[in-house]
Amino acid sequence: MEEVLRPAQACGEESLRRLTLDLEQVDWNMLDRQIAALREPTETLPGTIAPPILFPASTDETQNQQEAREAGFAALQAGRVAIATVAGGQASRLGFEGPKGAFPLGAISGASLFQMLAGQIQRLRVLTKANLQWIIQTGPGNHIATAQFLQARNWFGLGASSVHLVCQGTLPALSPTGQFLLSTPRSLFRNPDGHGGFYQALKDSIVLPQLRDQGVDLLYYCQVDNPLARVADPIFLGHHLRQKAQMSVKVIEKKDPAEKVGLIVQRDEKVTCLEYSDLPEGFAEQRAKDGGLRFRAGNIAIHFFDLAFAEEMAEAALPLHLAHKEVHALHAGSAEAVPCQGIKFETFVFDALSLADVALVQNCEREEEFAPVKNRTGADSIQSSREALDFRVRKWMAQADGPTLSSGGLAEMAPNVCYDQQDLAARIQDVRLNTKNLQVIQR
Ligand code: UD1
Repeated sequence: MEEVLRPAQACGEESLRRLTLDLEQVDWNMLDRQIAALREPTETLPGTIAPPILFPASTDETQNQQEAREAGFAALQAGRVAIATVAGGQASRLGFEGPKGAFPLGAISGASLFQMLAGQIQRLRVLTKANLQWIIQTGPGNHIATAQFLQARNWFGLGASSVHLVCQGTLPALSPTGQFLLSTPRSLFRNPDGHGGFYQALKDSIVLPQLRDQGVDLLYYCQVDNPLARVADPIFLGHHLRQKAQMSVKVIEKKDPAEKVGLIVQRDEKVTCLEYSDLPEGFAEQRAKDGGLRFRAGNIAIHFFDLAFAEEMAEAALPLHLAHKEVHALHAGSAEAVPCQGIKFETFVFDALSLADVALVQNCEREEEFAPVKNRTGADSIQSSREALDFRVRKWMAQADGPTLSSGGLAEMAPNVCYDQQDLAARIQDVRLNTKNLQVIQR
């Protein structure tokens, strides 16, 4: 501890006072867990691991699906659901300066990822007549920029009072020997606590009691980077309710073992997400008898929660995930930050799955619901996501209206025009009235 104080002592009273204040914010129980996690050997997946039991895709029109849709829709209409989006990460892989949600993905309109989700919420409000609330989890590095972005766009018409920004917390990074690092003489080196910090951020926020007062007891959750997310999907919700699940997850069929998605498995009878970066060598490559991947339930990070369960998870001591990184920090005695080894600690939202008494796994079709924007080029890129939006709008249009869109180029539907294929089919004439609703651009 003396070493960590030394640079501040050399800088004078004010620096020492500031550093002391920073140290007072440290959660010492969590710090004990961080140090213990540093010393634990890397986990080698103990326990029995099997593929999970899957519910069918939302597009599978069976009686069971229809009943689930009705149950989910009724809960939405009754105002029981709020929507949460995690948007606290940096868009570093995308090479975008602002908050990732501000990225202009729309090929023609330049609509941002935030606008695409907002459009879905708007349309769902029309369909359900419920004033769906939207919680956006930001991070310390983009909270202000996110608020400014949304405010400048008038909260995409959702109303300032029903869009709630909650900021995730931070955890101190440590040296390989478990010492604090400093970013300046007067402040600890910290990193965002991972999207698992969502639970605490929600619990500490003023929005939680407001939601309860409004009768909300269910939470839909998605990541900001997936413009195909079917926001608050009534079928998914219906299954969640009918199975009396506390937390549910949507998956797509993973075909390429190298695809960077977590794997949803049954581990010792509990639904668990094995994060792609934590898998032992050869695990993802295992094959089933049908020749497909043995573990193919890819996590698309879309959930339904019972709100009470999400609240409980703030106290749950979720596992810590460690990232060994080169960081710029002060060594004891040095006046300036220098490159050194640091360990960052994060928790993940989906680690709560294994703590649920009942966790439901819902299968879905990739082309309908998953096309994340992670990278500038290649897999999960700006282009692949735009192509997926184009593919889906052409498919929906063909089902609603016949193949009337000119071929070639990229098609784009305004984000708040329709919710799903069924919705589009029901209002295709209205959609056709305004050319801005549906546009095609030549590449
Ligand atoms: C994530 C999932 C992976 C899943 C994939 C689907 C993790 C650790 N893994 O992978 O299982 O298959 O998405 O696309 O999430 N975020 C925060 N705060 C943070 C860190 C991230 O809010 O401290 C948000 C980001 O803004 C983003 C989301 O969490 O919306 C996912 O983060 P990202 O780093 O892109 O995760 P992936 O590695 O792509």
